[in-house]
Amino acid sequence: MNFNQAEFLTSYGLSSQLPKSDELEFAFAGRSNVGKSSLINKLFNRKALAKVSAVPGKTATINFYRVENVHFVDLPGYGYAKVAKSEKERWAALIEKYFGDDRNLGLVFQLVDMRHPPTKLDIDMTNYLIECELPFAVVLTKADKLNKTQTKERLAAIRKELPYGEQLTILPCSSQTGAGIEEMRELIEEIVSQ
Ligand code: GTP
Ligand code: MG
Repeated sequence: MNFNQAEFLTSYGLSSQLPKSDELEFAFAGRSNVGKSSLINKLFNRKALAKVSAVPGKTATINFYRVENVHFVDLPGYGYAKVAKSEKERWAALIEKYFGDDRNLGLVFQLVDMRHPPTKLDIDMTNYLIECELPFAVVLTKADKLNKTQTKERLAAIRKELPYGEQLTILPCSSQTGAGIEEMRELIEEIVSQ
């Protein structure tokens, strides 16, 4: 798969607009500002395929990208306190429609900020993915912000903090240095070639 050949497909803001899943999909989920859009750009060697912002809540729609016939899905971030209740309800409707749609999911990447323990919503998300029996891996973002000792500490701690943490695939990554990106690509390739 040529990761340099990604293109933007479409954006959906309403759950009723979501098309049926016809291709293999990889989704990126995580709280607002965790680095989903940045990771997508790094994965595909692009500066601004997905819009990145220092202000949380940038990606309010479900955005589809593709490489050949594999789809990559940037999901809107959860847990941004300042958005209105109606926006949170729209988010929940979008996410539930997306995951409840019997999609052809290769893998969901659940992004968690490596610097901090997972939030309650992160843990809810992990439980949701487990309950729905969706295949997923945890990506620890912003790994560049930690030194060696901190990295070791967080890697050990996260396995205790997340449900079934000992059994999860956990990948520390950085969109800034590119750490972990090659491993992510390999994971994707492995699933695509199955
Ligand atoms: P929403 O669209 O609001 O849900 O956010 P998002 O998860 O898409 O986050 P986004 O990629 O827009 O990044 C949020 C902020 O974190 C930006 O200021 C990025 O530059 C920064 N950031 C993302 N990934 C990394 C990383 O690996 N290292 C560092 N140091 N900063 C990062
Ligand atoms: Mg985003």
